[in-house]
Amino acid sequence: MSLPAEMAELEQIPAEVDARLAAVADLDELAEIDSAYLGKKSALTAAKKQLGRIDPEQRKAAGRAVNEIRAGIEAAIAVTRDRLSAAARAAQLEAERLDLTETRERIRRGSYHLVTQARDRLEDVFVGMGFTVAEGPEVETAWYNFEALNIPEWHPARGSFDTIFVNLGEPEQVMLRSHTSPVQIRTMETTEPPIYIVAPGRTFRTDTADATHLPAFNQIEGLVIDRGITMGDLAGTIDSFVHAFFGGEVKTRLRPSYFPFTEPSAEFDISRPDGSWLELGGCGMVHPNVLRNCGIDPDEWQGFAFGFGIDRLAVMRYQLDDIRELVNNDVRFLRQF
Ligand code: DAH
Repeated sequence: MSLPAEMAELEQIPAEVDARLAAVADLDELAEIDSAYLGKKSALTAAKKQLGRIDPEQRKAAGRAVNEIRAGIEAAIAVTRDRLSAAARAAQLEAERLDLTETRERIRRGSYHLVTQARDRLEDVFVGMGFTVAEGPEVETAWYNFEALNIPEWHPARGSFDTIFVNLGEPEQVMLRSHTSPVQIRTMETTEPPIYIVAPGRTFRTDTADATHLPAFNQIEGLVIDRGITMGDLAGTIDSFVHAFFGGEVKTRLRPSYFPFTEPSAEFDISRPDGSWLELGGCGMVHPNVLRNCGIDPDEWQGFAFGFGIDRLAVMRYQLDDIRELVNNDVRFLRQF
């Protein structure tokens, strides 16, 4: 390299730059180095201006020497810039990475409500026994909720249903259904026997909510109409369903009772582990008046019906202390099921 004496110190620069590049931390610091050694105020830029003042004989060689130094520094800085850029990009990718497995762990999956689960299982059990699922409206008329079910206007049983009436039409003629039994009537009106249905759904009464009552609750109704149906078929059906739902250990029994829409009528109980009995629902042989009300000849067709609370069933199955837990919507409770 042929630098004139006055520019001799430029020869130190490449080594100085190499030392700084070896220790450079990031792209910002690299920009400072770039401007210090190649910028307007750098010694190399100043040297270019000095070239005009040196002997023309030496100028060309000196100019080439200054350019070589400059090109060497530029190349060294470019290599360092590539290295730092690659490192910065890798760090950014790492920081912005989406870890999909972490995300999956953080999201909590919901589940069906306890009562929906119980209802689905009940439907499955009955469908497995050959029943189909029927539905009816939640707002009913007195004909479907009472009259067709053999509960005329004067009948004392009307009072026992604690009905919530809707302010529509004649007084006490439109109501929130107080049981799922009206779906029996709707089904028999529109379907030719044989009939094997269950009808789950919401029901309403003027009850105040407490540990064992809800004003809006769920029932499931069963109805079988066929030839030669007896009380034995009813008992066997209840027994099969209880075994399928609660397991083989649980026993069932029928106790004589009274419902206007069945004759004879019974209540059915299931056994608890300690040997005591728990009332589950009502049932019986469909009353001939009910069959007649739906245009079915009681001499040709017989049937049985039953009904019970789905919420109560869930309370029993999961041994809840308070039925209101089912409607409090406390996720800490709901998450357990
Ligand atoms: N509907 C009755 C109630 O809500 C339950 C019931 C009893 C339904 C006997 C029936 C039955 O189908 O045969 O209390």
